[in-house]
Amino acid sequence: MLERYAELMTGLRTQPRRWLVTGCAGFIGSNLLEALLTAGQQVVGLDNFATGHRHNLDEVQRNVGPDAWARFQFIEGDIRNLEVCHTAARGVDHVLHQAALGSVPRSLEDPITTNEVNIGGFLNMLVAARDAGVKSFVYAASSSTYGDHPGLPKVEDHIGKPLSPYAVTKYVNELYADVFTRAYGTPSVGLRYFNVFGRRQDPEGAYAAVIPRWIAAMIRGQEVVINGDGETSRDFCYIDNVVQANVLAALAGPDGVNQVYNVAYGDRTTLNQLFRYLAEILRGQGIEYDRPPRHADFRAGDVRHSQADIGKARALLGYAPQYDIEAGLKAAMPWYAQFLA
Ligand SMILES: NC(=O)c1ccc[n+]([C@@H]2O[C@H](COP(=O)([O-])OP(=O)(O)OC[C@H]3O[C@@H](n4cnc5c(N)ncnc54)[C@H](O)[C@@H]3O)[C@@H](O)[C@H]2O)c1
Repeated sequence: MLERYAELMTGLRTQPRRWLVTGCAGFIGSNLLEALLTAGQQVVGLDNFATGHRHNLDEVQRNVGPDAWARFQFIEGDIRNLEVCHTAARGVDHVLHQAALGSVPRSLEDPITTNEVNIGGFLNMLVAARDAGVKSFVYAASSSTYGDHPGLPKVEDHIGKPLSPYAVTKYVNELYADVFTRAYGTPSVGLRYFNVFGRRQDPEGAYAAVIPRWIAAMIRGQEVVINGDGETSRDFCYIDNVVQANVLAALAGPDGVNQVYNVAYGDRTTLNQLFRYLAEILRGQGIEYDRPPRHADFRAGDVRHSQADIGKARALLGYAPQYDIEAGLKAAMPWYAQFLA
């Protein structure tokens, strides 16, 4: 299956396209940007640095070198501004829409701003993509859309009720994309990411994701806090799997577009297991962490277990994730060791 991805990447090198990556200064967006520039593509990036960082763009610039960087055009702007979205989408073949306010707790504290960016901003981008006549509009959906549905593994067609304002916004994105396909023929693909991790994921702040937050704490010899009993489980997905899914989705044929897919590895790891893996991998790097974790209360809005069925993405997109959680952690560890110390 991996051949499909390799074949597409080779094709792109010979026939470069113009891409728009929104949220390009963030974790996932900056990794998409780096992969596309490395593959010889023209990329427009849009970000307002709400949660992304200039240093992520600087790192991409260092990694890709001056020739590739010259193919990048950055627009500092807000997706809540329709004019900015129109400017960014002009002449673009494929949109990879990542800009949003992530985090379930952030959305519980400030549902209004989350709604404005994740729904208002999303709709602006969709309108801009429609008006630009793009070949595909791929967007970051979320596993949070499964809400309170108890089934495991999660299958695309069976969702429950959302458990947070964030989950509502991500579900509304799917509804809007579907309506735009029906009403205007805008080709879209929603990728329901499951707990993505890897280089450039922000370890700082109240809304940081668990893996960079814990690794930073462990490297710095600080306390690790587990919300709940640690038996909460997640399908942790390494960033390179997500980059692959985005490219496959953007270039999908008629059978693959106008769909929503789970993007994960297809496995389940508890927080207690994750803690043990991290301690073990850090030990391999010469970093000893022997403090026991502290257990705090469960977090509101969190689902208990999450694991994806990735059969649909495998079948219709040719998705073949290369990194399980351990391989991903090992691949990212040199970055964590360099930047999170
Ligand atoms: N990381 C995950 O595990 C995960 C899981 C499910 C879904 N997602 C979704 O994937 C996407 C990317 O997430 P991430 O983890 O890279 O987060 P991130 O916070 O690192 O990146 C989001 C980027 O969007 C930018 N942004 C926010 N509001 C904006 C606005 N109004 N205008 C322009 N830019 C704006 C931010 O500055 C940031 O650079 C988001 O849509 C998120 O909801 C992520």
